[in-house]
Amino acid sequence: MKKLIIINGPNLNLLGKRETNIYGSLTFTEFYEAVVKKYPDVDLTYYQSNIEGELIDKIQEVGFSYDGIILNAAAYTHTSVGIGDAVKAVTTPVVEVHISNTFSREEFRHQSYISPNAKGVILGFGLQSYELAIESFISAS
Ligand code: DQA
Repeated sequence: MKKLIIINGPNLNLLGKRETNIYGSLTFTEFYEAVVKKYPDVDLTYYQSNIEGELIDKIQEVGFSYDGIILNAAAYTHTSVGIGDAVKAVTTPVVEVHISNTFSREEFRHQSYISPNAKGVILGFGLQSYELAIESFISAS
C-alpha cells in the first residue's frame, strides 16, 4: 500500500469560500473525504498549515519514509526558498500541484521554487489536480 500525504499551504483551508470563481465551491474536507473513499488502497493523510516553517517541518518529517508527497505550497510556491530547499533535501518524491493554471494568471505566479526539485507538476485541473497526482504515484513502480 502506497503511503502518500497531501500537504497544503496558506489559505487552502479556506477552499469553498475563497475566490470560488478560481478555486471552486467545495471545501477541501469534502473533497478529501471523497478521495479517501475513491482510493481505498492508498494510505493517505492530509496536512495543512498557513505557516512556512510548519510546512518545512512536515516535509522533513515525512520526507524520508513516505512513498510520495503531493504538495500545494500555495503562495509560498512563488516565494519560499526554504520550502524549495526542503523538497530538494528529502528522498520522498514530491509532486507539485495547483488547483488553478498559475501560468494563465499574474506573472508572479509563473515562478516556482518547488518545480526544479519536484518529480512533476500538475496544475490547472481544479481539485482533480490532486487526484492526478495520486494516480501518478499509484502507477509509478
Ligand atoms: C494555488 C496557486 C497560487 O498562486 C495561490 O497563491 C494559491 C493556490 C493553486 O492551487 O492554484 O493559494 O497554489
